[in-house]
Amino acid sequence: MLVIIKKDYEEISFEGAKLVASLIRKKPDCVLGFATGSTPLGLYKHLIRMHKDEGLDFSKVISFNLDEYVGLPPSHNQSYHFFMWENLFKHININPSNIHIPMGMAEDIESFCEWYEAKIVSYGGIDLQILGIGSNGHIAFNEPGSSLGSRTRIKTLKEKTRNDNARFFKNFEEVPKFAITMGVGTIMEAKRLILLANGKSKAEAIKATVEGPIMAKYPATIVQLHQYATVIVDKEAAGLLEGDYST
Ligand code: F6R
Repeated sequence: MLVIIKKDYEEISFEGAKLVASLIRKKPDCVLGFATGSTPLGLYKHLIRMHKDEGLDFSKVISFNLDEYVGLPPSHNQSYHFFMWENLFKHININPSNIHIPMGMAEDIESFCEWYEAKIVSYGGIDLQILGIGSNGHIAFNEPGSSLGSRTRIKTLKEKTRNDNARFFKNFEEVPKFAITMGVGTIMEAKRLILLANGKSKAEAIKATVEGPIMAKYPATIVQLHQYATVIVDKEAAGLLEGDYST
């Protein structure tokens, strides 16, 4: 696992975007795993700029998103479908038929999850997965206590996560209670992981992820076992790290 500490949010976003762009240039039909939330927004802004100014071509890129709330239709302004279209897809030349996001409205969620896993495999797996991290150490919606070998499935959201996300809804009660999420095992099969974090609120989770023992209490700690995981954090998120990560 490589740890890169940058000055601030802008720098981590640019660093992450450069890694994604260089993969797209090398392998135009690469399979990218996207995350939602506030963390990757800066990275997405850079990708949009690179598309507009430098001709970064997404026409052959295949995408899979990590997760989606159960019960929110794609048109709901807090659904992750809506988020991805607003913040990335509508600004780049990705082919809509190459986009995959879990279907929160699926009638048979279990069958949908199996189909999603098979679809990832049918494209040869995810080449690069972008990850954020919850303040409780979750990745995607794999909350503390999730099995470290888990696959795509429905999960109940912890109160902490619902509270963290309540800022995007009218009130706490409106925050969905369930989500479909790639499993920790699914994420670990991606050929490369880029985990981004910024701000003091992530410092404890980053400390556990980088320097703590691997445990289901902090699902993100599993990335220590990934051969090609890059953790890119700003100074605040790195604030509790004790090791020397200068390169
Ligand atoms: C979203 C996701 C979540 C977020 C995490 C951090 O697709 O996978 O695990 O990455 O909740 O969210 P932010 O970036 O809003 O702090």
